[in-house]
Amino acid sequence: MKPKGLSKTILITGSTSDIGRKIAIRFAKEGWNILCHYNSSRAKAVELKKVLIKYGGKHELLRADLSSKNQIQSFKNKLDKFNIDVLVNNAGTYTVSKYFSELTIEDITKTFMVNTFAPMIISPYLFMRMREHGFGRIVNISSIAAKYGGSGFSMHYGCSKRAIEGLTKTLAKEGAKSNVLVNTIRPGVIDTEFHKKFPKDMQKRISMIPLGKMGTPEDIAEMVFYLGSERNNFITNEIITIAGGE
Ligand SMILES: NC(=O)c1ccc[n+]([C@@H]2O[C@H](COP(=O)([O-])OP(=O)(O)OC[C@H]3O[C@@H](n4cnc5c(N)ncnc54)[C@H](OP(=O)(O)O)[C@@H]3O)[C@@H](O)[C@H]2O)c1
Repeated sequence: MKPKGLSKTILITGSTSDIGRKIAIRFAKEGWNILCHYNSSRAKAVELKKVLIKYGGKHELLRADLSSKNQIQSFKNKLDKFNIDVLVNNAGTYTVSKYFSELTIEDITKTFMVNTFAPMIISPYLFMRMREHGFGRIVNISSIAAKYGGSGFSMHYGCSKRAIEGLTKTLAKEGAKSNVLVNTIRPGVIDTEFHKKFPKDMQKRISMIPLGKMGTPEDIAEMVFYLGSERNNFITNEIITIAGGE
């Protein structure tokens, strides 16, 4: 284990999302080195790196389309040269909004490739190295859709998120004796660009939230920081819902 005080390194997939970006900034503020994964949003990734550099530390951008089997493999190979202490599986996709009876196997496969299969390949690989070092934290970003099943239009998404919660359980049990702590966060409705891609009646959706408002990316980043840093000594194999009471 690295002595306290030396910079640790975190890999955040989907760092170009609003939630991923806030997670990156939260850790950078504490002196961490950030590996920022992105796919299509190169400009956002470059801009994020500029922000992170202001806090010091070493930051790198890594591109991979996690819906591609070959790119998942080459992304994994690229990680070889880094000593990664913490992994946040945050990249996610909804691919298409279709009623469950209309979904094709391609729609479902693409969603699962990004949300589930990529984390199922990358996390065990990093896990084995974390275990050797005697320190590791993995935070999987699921969704409230895994808790309630979402709507009839999100079967593919909700099921893929439910599956990543299963990954949490396996790794948490295997990592417990080696100080590798693994947890799931289930965000509820968070105010991000995601909701602009698939417009719906947001006021109606917000009225279903007991606290009567959307969460912010910072609400999620704060919990990721707690679970994903040395602050967390005794929480593993948990699902934390951050959803305003839903
Ligand atoms: N916003 C919410 O209300 C909410 C609620 C529950 C759970 N979540 C989860 O929280 C996470 C972040 O959500 P968000 O709302 O901040 O952002 P988002 O708009 O869902 O952003 C998606 C992120 O995933 C990456 N991504 C998408 N397809 C990819 C692919 N094929 N290969 C690699 N990366 C890919 C994107 O990278 P590029 O842009 O670089 O392509 C982007 O960084 C997601 O896992 C989402 O499911 C969000």
